[in-house]
Amino acid sequence: MLATQHPVFRRFWYPIFQLEELAAGPRGFRLLGEDIVLWLDEAGAPACLQDRCPHRSAKLSVDSTVVKGALACGYHGWEFARSGTCLFVPQMPELRAGARSAAKPYACVARYGFAWVCLDENPLLPIPDLPHAEDQGFRQIFEYAEDWEANFLRVAENALDVGHVAFVHRATIGDDSKPTMPRLTLVPMPHGVNFRCDLPVANRADQQRNLRIAAPETVRKADIKWLMPGAFTLHFTYPNGLVHAICGFATPIDDQRCRRIQFVYRSDTEAEAPGAAIAAFDRRVGSEDRRLLESCPADFPLDPKAEAHMILDRPSLVMRQMLRRLLRDHDPNAHLAAHELAAPDTLAVEAA
Ligand code: FES
Ligand SMILES: [Fe+2]
Repeated sequence: MLATQHPVFRRFWYPIFQLEELAAGPRGFRLLGEDIVLWLDEAGAPACLQDRCPHRSAKLSVDSTVVKGALACGYHGWEFARSGTCLFVPQMPELRAGARSAAKPYACVARYGFAWVCLDENPLLPIPDLPHAEDQGFRQIFEYAEDWEANFLRVAENALDVGHVAFVHRATIGDDSKPTMPRLTLVPMPHGVNFRCDLPVANRADQQRNLRIAAPETVRKADIKWLMPGAFTLHFTYPNGLVHAICGFATPIDDQRCRRIQFVYRSDTEAEAPGAAIAAFDRRVGSEDRRLLESCPADFPLDPKAEAHMILDRPSLVMRQMLRRLLRDHDPNAHLAAHELAAPDTLAVEAA
């Protein structure tokens, strides 16, 4: 299944840029194959238009500026409000705004320090509530935002995959002489997958300082969620009570690429563990995932028989089942994936 062929994926909110990046001026992005431009309006709120000027079809993200909160096209200076209405044509200042001169607007709001965009007028779900975001006892640490040559659903699925930790992360949190096989407790949730487990991990020198745990191994009490379609939270509680709640996002650029965004909420203080060291460590862990995820095809298979599975892949199978239901129930192009959607909703798990 190629997500860009299925308009249902346009009905979700995706984080795109940090607000502070937009403070420097308008920025272009490609979301699900659609070129868009974002900027901050006069109130400092993020705004989004299709990246196409209605005058000569130049990209509004190229050499544009912000004039009193409006986006001024870099080509002839026409100015557009966040609604897309053309407010001003410098060469014809008396001209009134008209439908033909409007750019196409998209819904855009600020949350968690990011500009979020939905390409459809009727989002299926709100922006997800994140654990500890409103909690005064926690600090938010921005970790990274980078573009990966990987399919966004494969990146999201990787968050549900505890079987890879010993191997992919052998240089950071893994130990390939001890493959982990924790018992997963699945918790039903309506638009995602949730499970809990105790996850043993290696605890090498740099991470020992970040966690303030001196032992060479430790255990994460993990509560892991996939939030349909490209978000996930990895809520880890360590034996000393420290909470490290990762909020990860895979924003689809197209079928083969995504913007991988991550921040974390921590229960400790900057004096106890510097945010820069925490972010650097998690970025190393992310770059280990990236190598493997960029080797996977852009096609995300919904048919459970398309790939082999092991017991630990149960959350991935539930995720694929939920995506099959999503397409069946809401996608006008479901017929394009008819052969994958025909699979029964059973969770047969066979040995690999
Ligand atoms: S192309 Fe944008 S103002 Fe002319
Ligand atoms: Fe990983």
